Amino acid sequence: MELINRPRRLRTSPVLRKMVRETRIDRSSLVYPMFVTEGTNKTEEIASMPGQYRYSIDRMGEKLMQLTQAGVSSVMLFGIPEHKDETGSGAYASDGIVQRALQAAKKDFPKIYMITDLCMCEYTSHGHCGILCGQDVDNDRTLSYLAQIAVSQAQAGADMIAPSDMMDGRVAAIRRALDQNGFDEVPIMAYSAKYASSFYGPFRDAADSAPAFGDRRSYQMDYHNRREALKEVALDVEEGADIVMVKPAMAYADIIRQVRQLVHVPVAAYSVSGEYAMIKAASAAGWIQEEQVVAEAAVCAYRAGADIYISYYAQELAQYIKEGKLG
Ligand code: PBG
Repeated sequence: MELINRPRRLRTSPVLRKMVRETRIDRSSLVYPMFVTEGTNKTEEIASMPGQYRYSIDRMGEKLMQLTQAGVSSVMLFGIPEHKDETGSGAYASDGIVQRALQAAKKDFPKIYMITDLCMCEYTSHGHCGILCGQDVDNDRTLSYLAQIAVSQAQAGADMIAPSDMMDGRVAAIRRALDQNGFDEVPIMAYSAKYASSFYGPFRDAADSAPAFGDRRSYQMDYHNRREALKEVALDVEEGADIVMVKPAMAYADIIRQVRQLVHVPVAAYSVSGEYAMIKAASAAGWIQEEQVVAEAAVCAYRAGADIYISYYAQELAQYIKEGKLG
């Protein structure tokens, strides 16, 4: 048969398939989200995230060592405090859980790049991401608290600050506070398009941060919306965000793509706890092949336009890349 165009020609050998590959992943763009908790000698497995743990500060080093060996050089820290109160004071205490974890990590693993999630929900008694006024979060009052948390994290050694609260104007407030305190070189990675998502379920078990009443829909985005994500991203860049994030990743590839086309800053995609839990559960049942599905989901985020991938599978992904199974 006379066929001039035969796309299959470029698929005839592994070498050729790899030569013409459009998406390549590098270990340096992986970020591992890590939970630190109070107490000593603790590695508590998270029930809905098998293989993921809450580490006490003295046990954190084991994981940081494994990550380093696999080639993951960035970590995003989440703190789980012992005490919670109305204003989430544990989030900005100089001896708060994240602040102490940062100091310890910086001392023992100075080369690991430490990003801090900046939010109040793990620290407030009501589980919302800001200061309450009645049943809702008071946006403008919350901003000064967020700024204070950012400064305290930077003082403890955070290399980058990642606000995940979704308050209006928070990037500008945080940038101003960091600059005024001599941290003008600490970048902000804004959770810009963060959707109110049921994919966060296992995280809320892990961090004990489910809201005591109501939900987060007055601050996180409605998942029916796409233009609104572009508005949020544009505002964050205007306010000084150095990197913008789309979250979750798996069901939001269209958003990652459009954000990539809109802005000229790096785009991060966060593959959240529910994505991890689904893959773990299905592979534990023998219904899917974990390694292949994890790789496929990661490549999808990069193919959609992500430059940075935040994933509970970061260590495994790095290992696959190291072994030449992915890249
Ligand atoms: C804090 C925060 C959440 C996640 C990251 N930062 C939870 C939430 O917004 O309810 C979710 C991460 C995940 O599910 O892996 N606001």
